[in-house]
Amino acid sequence: MCFYSLTCAQNKLANIPVLTLDGPSGVGKGSVARIVAGKMGWHLLDSGAIYRGFALAAHSRGIVFDDEQGLVALAKKLDLKFESVEGQELLNVYVDGVEASKELRTEQTAELASQLAVIASLREALLKKQQQFEQAPGLVADGRDMGTVVFPDAPYKVYLTASAEERAQRRLKQLQNSANAGNISQILAEVKKRDERDSNRKHSPLTPAKDALIIDTTCLTINEVVARVMALVEV
Ligand code: C5P
Repeated sequence: MCFYSLTCAQNKLANIPVLTLDGPSGVGKGSVARIVAGKMGWHLLDSGAIYRGFALAAHSRGIVFDDEQGLVALAKKLDLKFESVEGQELLNVYVDGVEASKELRTEQTAELASQLAVIASLREALLKKQQQFEQAPGLVADGRDMGTVVFPDAPYKVYLTASAEERAQRRLKQLQNSANAGNISQILAEVKKRDERDSNRKHSPLTPAKDALIIDTTCLTINEVVARVMALVEV
């Protein structure tokens, strides 16, 4: 189901190209999306950061997760800002005006986001926020439902997969510099738990769009994945 805003309709007429990159936790979507967006000079939507930022905002306000009305009201006025910093790979993220980049990227925040992401009315409230990223000259959007729900008419769709073990290794590497990185078996269990919840939820489950190019990245380097994605968008 897709609720198109006026902006969406205008962007469709303007023919703004969108590349959707979906896939499970730790598959490397974020890195691939960043590199491809940089090469193409396109905008970037990290939709996971929106769910994570929302989870932090709800948690800090003490909104309990079964207060659906309270969650939807917060989603509608969510104050989330992304800032790119020269020489820094990851964007800085501000939640309610407070810099929260480190907290945003922890496994604990990912777990909170995944618990909230099952709520249909909340997903609907966050939909327009994501669609507003569709701006000229183009957009790379990474997440779970970019190709199926948020940008169903995108001309370029990719779904990345990799074994859970490989993804846990990649996640561990990413978290290496944080204080509570955890160990591989802990991360593998968390990755599997989130996969299970994200894939089996009723609304916008993690699944490849019918017209997505599926790339198994288990034995590929990031440069090899980027090359395959670029081959799709550069034609
Ligand atoms: O991609 P990332 O790991 O940052 O996402 C955190 C959680 O947010 C996911 O496990 C998923 O439950 C949720 N999410 C989602 N739909 C998206 C992006 C993220 O449900 N488009």
